[in-house]
Parts: sequence; structure tokens; C-alpha cells
Amino acid sequence: MKNKLVGIIFGLPSKDNEEIIIHSIAVLAEYWRRGIGSMLLKKLIQECQKQGFTRISVGAAEGVEKFYLKNEFKVCYLRVEIASKFEKAFEEKFKGKISQKIKRKNFVTFYIKVNTLNEKLRNKIKREFSPEKVIFILERKI
Ligand SMILES: CC(C)(COP(=O)(O)OP(=O)(O)OC[C@H]1O[C@@H](n2cnc3c(N)ncnc32)[C@H](O)[C@@H]1OP(=O)(O)O)[C@@H](O)C(=O)NCCC(=O)NCCS
Repeated sequence: MKNKLVGIIFGLPSKDNEEIIIHSIAVLAEYWRRGIGSMLLKKLIQECQKQGFTRISVGAAEGVEKFYLKNEFKVCYLRVEIASKFEKAFEEKFKGKISQKIKRKNFVTFYIKVNTLNEKLRNKIKREFSPEKVIFILERKI
């Protein structure tokens, strides 16, 4: 804006090259709610389309999901990162709902299929499993 940098957006192709993952988007706080974030998103999407991508996704920071919903993204997973000691209990609780599981040294990441911004579920998981991170993954066809 008038030679001042007020926002950035950055995305990269996923490992399988199936989609673009947004790694960061930020607008200076004093410029929030003026459509700049949406404009950055639109520009990134146009660039992705030019390069032949048909989907874009993001792991939304907590509280920012509504920005993506407003920009035609759909909620598709809840990604939960928990300590390995909770792995079995978590699997038992979400039997049949787990889409993917990734094991790391002392942590396990689960993807649970969801289609709404289910805050009740997020809070329940926070209470029961003390997750390192629990965030919604949103996608948009482009
Ligand atoms: C998220 C962010 C980039 C949005 O930028 P922005 O320029 O304010 O976005 P827009 O003005 O285009 O917002 C479009 C719509 O999204 C929704 N929205 C945006 N920010 C919102 C918020 N904090 N809470 C709820 N809804 C929000 C609103 O519906 C808004 O439309 P409206 O103002 O007409 O109601 C900005 O808030 C930001 O930089 N946040 C800090 C960094 C961050 O959390 N990045 C996200 C990482 S996943």
C-alpha cells in the first residue's frame, strides 16, 4: 500500500504435488478487515491455477478459521498431535474416524475427518489428551 509492505502470503506444493499448502499469511494488524488477506489469497490462487494445481489447503491457526470459511474453504480434517503414550486411547476413542496417522519419535499425529468447525470436539480433545497441537485443516478446490 503506497510502497509499504503490509501483507505476505506463502505457499508450497505438497510432497505428492497434489495441492498447494499455505504455510503463512499475515497482514499488519492495523490493516486487518480491509480485504487485504482475501486479496493475497486470491492472487496466490490465481498463480496456483496458472501452474495447474486444482486444490489449496491450510492448517488454520486457532481463531483464523472463519477467514478461510469466508474465502470458500471447507473444513475437512482435525489434525491432532499428541504424545505417544495417548496413542492407543486416542485410536480407541476415534475408531473408524481416523483418516491418517503419522508416527514421530515421541508424538503421533492423527487426522480425523470432520466437515464443520467442531469447537466442542476440539475442546474435548484438549481436555482429554493434552495435545501439543489441535488444528483444523481446510481445503478449497480451485
Ligand atoms: C488472517 C489475516 C491474514 C486476515 O487478514 P485480513 O486482511 O484482515 O482479512 P480480510 O479483511 O480479507 O477478511 C475477510 C473476512 O474474513 C473474516 N475474518 C478475517 N479476520 C477474522 C478474524 N480475526 N475473526 C473472524 N473473522 C475474520 C471476516 O469475515 C472478513 O470479512 P469482514 O471483515 O467483511 O467481516 C490477518 O488477520 C492476520 O494477519 N492474522 C495474523 C496472522 C495469522 O494468524 N495468519 C493465519 C495463519 S493460518
